[in-house]
Amino acid sequence: MHQILILCKIFVLLLMTPNLMVNRHYYLILLLISIMAFAYFMPVLFVFLLCNCDFYTVLVNGRFCKNPEHVTADDFFTSGLNMPGIAFNQFGVTVASANVLTLPGLNTLGISLVRFDYPPYGLNAPHTNPRESEILVVVEGTLYVGFVTSTSAPNEKNRLFSKILHPGDVFVFPMGLIHFQLNVGKTKAVAFAALNSQLPGLNIIANASFGSHPPINDDILAKAFQVDKKIVDYIQSQFESNNY
Ligand SMILES: *[C@@H]1O[C@H](CO)[C@@H](O)[C@H](O)[C@H]1NC(C)=O
Repeated sequence: MHQILILCKIFVLLLMTPNLMVNRHYYLILLLISIMAFAYFMPVLFVFLLCNCDFYTVLVNGRFCKNPEHVTADDFFTSGLNMPGIAFNQFGVTVASANVLTLPGLNTLGISLVRFDYPPYGLNAPHTNPRESEILVVVEGTLYVGFVTSTSAPNEKNRLFSKILHPGDVFVFPMGLIHFQLNVGKTKAVAFAALNSQLPGLNIIANASFGSHPPINDDILAKAFQVDKKIVDYIQSQFESNNY
């Protein structure tokens, strides 16, 4: 909100400058920035999710609104995170989620929660969650976790930050970065993660690269991964897109 106010003030000042025509481009850029800022901060403008729609249904942030008179405590509630969730990947990891799909009251609030259960050596493979940062706490077992920084500047390296976590240890995966968790113990591991998105999204690097529908041309992947095309074909054959 604060940022939006500042941007509004900048506009007013700009509008009052006599050489506005000269600054036309700056004005357009600022307009774009302000629209983005508004979109970013919009969720805080809603006092609560299920918005005021008395006569017809409206979508807010992609979800249906509900007449406030029909909202109950159950719209702000979900259950079952005391147990392992549903199968999540081929490495035996399961996930139980409290996101906007299971807890409608999260709509526009920008937060959600997951529980992960990892069998011994179970892996949550390198992936990104495009819309969130994630803070994870281990409650049982031992996890090796890490994330890799991006290469946004010419001399910037992809740095790996990793750590072994025990019960009570907390680690944060900054927004958009590739990260992973591996159970390095001989027993199962359990972790909970809070995410600053109502629906964080998931991009598993291996699946997106080698298992897309239809597959990415193997020339491209051979170059990108600096391996022979045969190796790319072999990896692609391990993913579902082969049967597409
Ligand atoms: C990723 O690919 C593997 C191998 O094909 C598959 O078992 C797994 O279900 C895929 N994960 C998702 C989320 O699609």
